[in-house]
Amino acid sequence: MRTQVAIVGAGPAGLLLSQLLAARGVESVVVETRSQDYVLARIRAGILEQSSVEALRAAGVAARLEVEALPHRGIYLQWPGERHHLDFVDLVGRRVFVYGQTEVTKDLVSAREQAGQELHYEVHDTAVHDIETDHPSVTFTDVAGAVRRIGARAVVGCDGSFGPCRQAVPDRIRRTWERTYPYAWLGVLADVAPSTDELIYAWHPEGFAMHSMRSEQVSRFYLQVPADEELAEWPDDRIWEALSTRLGEGVDWSLTSGPVTEKSVLPMRSRVTSPMRHGSLFLAGDAAHIVPPTGAKGLNLAIADVALLAPALADLVLSGDSRRADDYSPTALRRVWRCTHFSWWMTTMLHQSGDDFDAELQRSQLRWVADSRAGAAGLAENYTGLPLPL
Ligand code: PHB
Repeated sequence: MRTQVAIVGAGPAGLLLSQLLAARGVESVVVETRSQDYVLARIRAGILEQSSVEALRAAGVAARLEVEALPHRGIYLQWPGERHHLDFVDLVGRRVFVYGQTEVTKDLVSAREQAGQELHYEVHDTAVHDIETDHPSVTFTDVAGAVRRIGARAVVGCDGSFGPCRQAVPDRIRRTWERTYPYAWLGVLADVAPSTDELIYAWHPEGFAMHSMRSEQVSRFYLQVPADEELAEWPDDRIWEALSTRLGEGVDWSLTSGPVTEKSVLPMRSRVTSPMRHGSLFLAGDAAHIVPPTGAKGLNLAIADVALLAPALADLVLSGDSRRADDYSPTALRRVWRCTHFSWWMTTMLHQSGDDFDAELQRSQLRWVADSRAGAAGLAENYTGLPLPL
């Protein structure tokens, strides 16, 4: 096979890139190790920055989002006895939108299928070759067992943190920064109307808790648990009790429980890989960076990467102009590090770890963020997304 851009990974980054390239008259082929059902069943964070909504609109995949996304003007930040509303619209003039990553992926899959995009699911043994030349290729075994090769002008790794593309950047060139956190999140999806109008981020001596949502009928919750926690430790009763305590202590509010439809333990990690381009190989989304979910930045960063990459690849492929491709890695990494810092800061401010001294510092920091306009605006500016490119 020959195409202009070979894309490894059919998550939101790979699909959106393919859609943005098509809009510029650039052909692509997408390969994915998982099945389409698996990709669509993955539950991920559900917050879109304004700039992400604009990128999806520019790609022509925002029709359902415009109707169904829930606009939010802020968040609640709380600790026992106090709940504070941070009003992002008032603070920085921007909102965010609640629309699950699953829904973004569904919209992208249907747009790509309608356009007749070549998408190969359930491939294996994916490998990239000749990335230090201008005729790289991707080889894979397709679902029927045939070994295939895609020759292209550029290859883009949108294959997540475990995919092969990141490792294809030679060791002598690749640098990785990593932080693991000594706790995890227990994520819970429940068929119950949210008990809040805005997301609640709660600091609590028993551990962080959060109340998010997916729709007017579906709520999403998170509880800080030990890093190696077994799901069996968390029967539904214990979940509701912990959520009630951590989200409700000392505030005049009550949580409505309902049937739990899914629960899982999510690891918390930060990782940045540099450079995000080597020769004809470009990395985007989780293949290049992982953030803990506390700042809701993962999907937004992936969207920002491909919004930057699509015009750069179009220049490269259509007119041989490599200037924007040359700028891709340093430009993308500036935003990546800003979001890496913000996600780390939110995470370490809100989770229990360390001793009483750490806890008092966290509470002081939270109070400053809630009470000072400068503190609140700093959080709001980062949470709603800094302008593109940073
Ligand atoms: C979610 O709805 O899954 C969610 C929202 C905000 C976060 C993390 C997760 O910071």
